[in-house]
Amino acid sequence: MKSSKISLFVVFFLMSLSALLQATTVFGIIPIVDFVSQTDREDLSAVSRVIFDFITSIGFSVSMISLGATLVVVILLRVLINFLENYFRFKTIYDYLKIFSVDFFSVVVRAKIPSFEKNSYGKLSNTLTNETQKMSAGMDALMKVVFSFVTVVAFASTMFVISPALSILMAALGLLLFFPITWLANSLKTYYQKKYVNNLNFLGDNTYNILSNIKLVKGFGNEERSIKNLDGNISGLRDSIFRSSLTSSVNATLTEPLIFIIIVVIAYYSQNYLDLGIPLLVAFMFSANRLGLFLNIFFTSLNQYYGYIPSYRQFFEIHSFLNQNKERMKGEKLNELQKVISFDKVSFSYDAKNSVLNEASFDIQKGEKVAIVGESGAGKSTIIDLLMGFQRPGGGKILIDQKNIEEISSGSIRNIMGYVPQKPTLIPGTIRENFKWSKEDITDDEIIEILQRTDCLSFMNKLEDGLDTEIGNIGDKLSGGQIQRLCLARALGKKPNILILDEPTSSLDKKSEIEIKNLLENIQDITILCVTHRREIVEKFDKTIFLDKGKASSI
Ligand SMILES: Nc1ncnc2c1ncn2[C@@H]1O[C@H](COP(=O)(O)OP(=O)(O)O)[C@@H](O)[C@H]1O
Ligand SMILES: [Mg+2]
Repeated sequence: MKSSKISLFVVFFLMSLSALLQATTVFGIIPIVDFVSQTDREDLSAVSRVIFDFITSIGFSVSMISLGATLVVVILLRVLINFLENYFRFKTIYDYLKIFSVDFFSVVVRAKIPSFEKNSYGKLSNTLTNETQKMSAGMDALMKVVFSFVTVVAFASTMFVISPALSILMAALGLLLFFPITWLANSLKTYYQKKYVNNLNFLGDNTYNILSNIKLVKGFGNEERSIKNLDGNISGLRDSIFRSSLTSSVNATLTEPLIFIIIVVIAYYSQNYLDLGIPLLVAFMFSANRLGLFLNIFFTSLNQYYGYIPSYRQFFEIHSFLNQNKERMKGEKLNELQKVISFDKVSFSYDAKNSVLNEASFDIQKGEKVAIVGESGAGKSTIIDLLMGFQRPGGGKILIDQKNIEEISSGSIRNIMGYVPQKPTLIPGTIRENFKWSKEDITDDEIIEILQRTDCLSFMNKLEDGLDTEIGNIGDKLSGGQIQRLCLARALGKKPNILILDEPTSSLDKKSEIEIKNLLENIQDITILCVTHRREIVEKFDKTIFLDKGKASSI
């Protein structure tokens, strides 16, 4: 971060230096014109006199060759500085691309679970992949704005030294002609680019929804409808980017003729009202021409920058929202469950209208196997979310060994838990990687032992690559029940204090259900909290908590 700030400073320094050297080449023109027109020594302009004196002082005579050589040295110096400037400029913008992306990704993954509901998947992934790129391109545009501005100021100063009257006339004309056009073009650019960003967000959602539910799309025979949706989406995308590009090109095309008009007016004015002399007028016009070139870069880059404003807005809006909703990971560290987890009059609701838990109280003693049963929608998964710190209670307390979990770091609570989510999901990668995801230093022997215990070896043996089998490639070759058992095995691989299962048999047939039941009954030394609506599998548990209308009653 610090080095990127330094290189940003270096870029501005090099840009300004290069801009100043641009202006000095103009001064190189004056002595050449003076030399060619064989101006008398007394009539020489100040610039020519300084350069002629410099050449004589280092032992050369003033000639076309020595004048040319001086110019060439200055130009070579400029080329070198330009190279360095480009080097640092690209380095800076791509460093910032990395900073923007990594920073954004970290606020996303560190945000509290409820804050994910506020931003769609498409918007988040578009911001991460596209908008950050546009932001670094925006930095490039902004640097060019600053650079061309400094160059314009350098030329303007040169021109002011040559003729204040002409310079003021030129500035007045410039403001009059450029201001309204620039304002309009920049506003339009921002407007169309905002539409473009919205279209990209939507495209992200659209493709994600279609691709992650491709069986559903086909199952409902909705291929054509999906294509039509996407087609409409892409049309919107095309229209907004087309109009945005058009405004830039109109803006860029208008700059040149306007500058030409200004130059003609100046030539006319100086010929009729000023007595400038040919060398100075040539230098002035040369400067005006260069100034026009950089003014063009200035307006084009400014217009580009205005196009990136919606990207910055979206980025910082989400960034600051998620940053304010960061999960609190600080607090005391929990090493193990020693005695008891208590829900003490815990109330919770997702929204003002519907209360899910209403002063629910129950205990889970260390080593106990506890089941939570209740109808669908009773709040069973919510209890798990509360215990894992994904949600916070609206009232009451959740205590681990008499300590409120608000005071314990969420990371350390999750560390002692093995979690099997309601929707069994394996992460993309190999089977071994899924276990390493759970416990980094797990060995192959440990994995095999767990796979055996959870009755996964039978189907695992059929896989050619064994632990190296890619989940992505076989996702569909595994049955729901097999995935569920692998999820349970992965959670056990962590050697948790508490095993948390959310409907562990939801995708299992009767036979597998009984196997899981036996497996859970045989697990020793681990506290188990199992949420289910199938009472059969938890009949031998130490305790069953019934959840009804937000209240908990245990037997
Ligand atoms: N993220 C959420 N936003 C709003 N309501 C929710 C959310 N998650 C769950 N609910 C609602 O809260 C209630 C309890 O949900 P849940 O704990 O998932 O039930 P269970 O796991 O017992 O089936 C349900 O009425 C459900 O619709
Ligand atoms: Mg549930």
